[in-house]
Amino acid sequence: MTLTLAQVGAEAARCTKCGLANGRTQVVFGMGSPDADLMFVGEGPGAEEDKQGLPFVGRSGKLLDRLMAEEIGMTRDQCYIANVVKCRPPDNRDPKPEEVAACRPWLESQIRLIAPRVIVSLGNFSSKLLLDTTTGITKLRGQSYPLPDADAVLIPTFHPAAVLRGGGLQEAQMRSDLVRARLAMAP
Ligand code: URA
Repeated sequence: MTLTLAQVGAEAARCTKCGLANGRTQVVFGMGSPDADLMFVGEGPGAEEDKQGLPFVGRSGKLLDRLMAEEIGMTRDQCYIANVVKCRPPDNRDPKPEEVAACRPWLESQIRLIAPRVIVSLGNFSSKLLLDTTTGITKLRGQSYPLPDADAVLIPTFHPAAVLRGGGLQEAQMRSDLVRARLAMAP
């Protein structure tokens, strides 16, 4: 029997497959349309996300919302937003390989069930994982990559937290990546 996205989310909410389960307030599975053409994938929940149970609701998320509206003309309800790991790593450290490995099936289920046409990976972490590469985001971004297994294209861009730190040039580059995503969705 194939589960729906909501059913998979309900299962993930009880997940104890890695140590991150011990420190979380709640699982941050993802949010948005289960039929979205466009999916964003970040790294993992921060403090605000852990508190609210929703992805990208802090400062980075506000920037993501604004750039998404200005360059793609979409709101977060029209796309889907998820992270590589669904539970907050303590002190905002990077997720460990065993945590990523334990969590990966949730992201794979999300991609399979939503079947987006375009996936925008936000930052080094999700870009390297989804492209199975060690190349960094500065080199990866600026192009799109077919993901034959998912029947989608992947467009890597900076993490909005990096844009908040980095300023104008990175913001302009992220905007151009989002335009690429909009064009990739055009029929
Ligand atoms: N950073 C992420 O990678 N994901 C979030 O949900 C919030 C901040």
